[in-house]
Amino acid sequence: MSIRVFSGVQPTGNIHIGNYLGALKQFVDLQAEGTSVEDVPHRSDQSSLNDCIYCIVDLHAITLPKDPAELRDSILDVAALYLAVGIDPKKSVVFVQSDVPGHAELAWILMCNSYTGELSRMTQFKDKSRGNESAPTGLFAYPVLMAADILLYDSNVVPVGSDQKQHIELTRDIAIRVNNKYGDDTFVVPEGRFLKDGARVMALDNPTAKMSKSAENPHSFISLLDDEAKIRKSIMRATTDSDGEIRFDPASKPGVSNLLTIYGAFTGKPVAEVEREWAGRGYGDFKKAVAEVTTDALEPIRRRYAEIRPSDELRAVLRDGAERAGAISEKVILRVKERFGLGA
Ligand code: TYM
Repeated sequence: MSIRVFSGVQPTGNIHIGNYLGALKQFVDLQAEGTSVEDVPHRSDQSSLNDCIYCIVDLHAITLPKDPAELRDSILDVAALYLAVGIDPKKSVVFVQSDVPGHAELAWILMCNSYTGELSRMTQFKDKSRGNESAPTGLFAYPVLMAADILLYDSNVVPVGSDQKQHIELTRDIAIRVNNKYGDDTFVVPEGRFLKDGARVMALDNPTAKMSKSAENPHSFISLLDDEAKIRKSIMRATTDSDGEIRFDPASKPGVSNLLTIYGAFTGKPVAEVEREWAGRGYGDFKKAVAEVTTDALEPIRRRYAEIRPSDELRAVLRDGAERAGAISEKVILRVKERFGLGA
């Protein structure tokens, strides 16, 4: 049996190089390789190719108000980007969360097995709600829906950026809690997969905060669809420091360290090697090189996206994906309902 990989991206705004380097790039790499069994402590079988499921999590997107027409467009935008970065629908399942009813169904069951105390401690909820009493209940329950996404497919490995670490921990806690109560094999307990370089790409204009889709300043992030001129402009403007030394030191040199991370992730070189390569040289030249490797990496994605986005194939891929995801999830829902004593 192969290793089951599951992950998702919200269809909100611009997918940026943080999403790509932290998550999407891993999606593609995992699709092409088998994960070694040492990476997955719960499995002792030898894997060949991974069995990958990649979701567009539209139910998560409505935890904050969305214009319906824009949401529908964003769903197709992310689907096209999935394919443009190299996810192959013949190898992986690509689908939209709300097309498979099991996500919402399992989320409810898990809500009855999670605590308001643990959800109150989620930093993303605290950041987004800021203590506002009229924050939607869905925003509070967001991590439980995410746990349902993962547990619904008996997922072993979840490739994500490091901002999702707390949500993955919660997913594991809920799975273990339910297993203790309803039987050890109710859920597979998943593992997060975080890259060493790229798991946290910082905002270009404020390198102490993570790069975010919702930033107001367009030079805060680089969208996967930005052209060469925009990429160069955003990187040349990136906040650095005044000591002029190209050195990896996120605490005292967050801007330069972020550029080293981006350069390393796009060239596939370890950050220490990039540091050595650029030691003693100026920020201006380094920024030009970062812009160049970023443009080289994104140009083919942008080209493929322009072909895929208008094609009718896209909806067919999503319909087929929903069918395949539905078939896998139904079995898990039946198992869970049986364990909990639900249904006639
Ligand atoms: P989302 O849509 O915010 O982000 C998608 C993926 O991109 C990663 N990411 C980053 N990685 C590095 N640097 C950054 N600056 C950066 N910003 C975002 C995220 O960690 C994520 O992997 N809750 C999830 C979506 C989700 C999900 C799931 C993921 C819903 N259900 C089940 C995995 C499994 C989210 O909001 O991602």
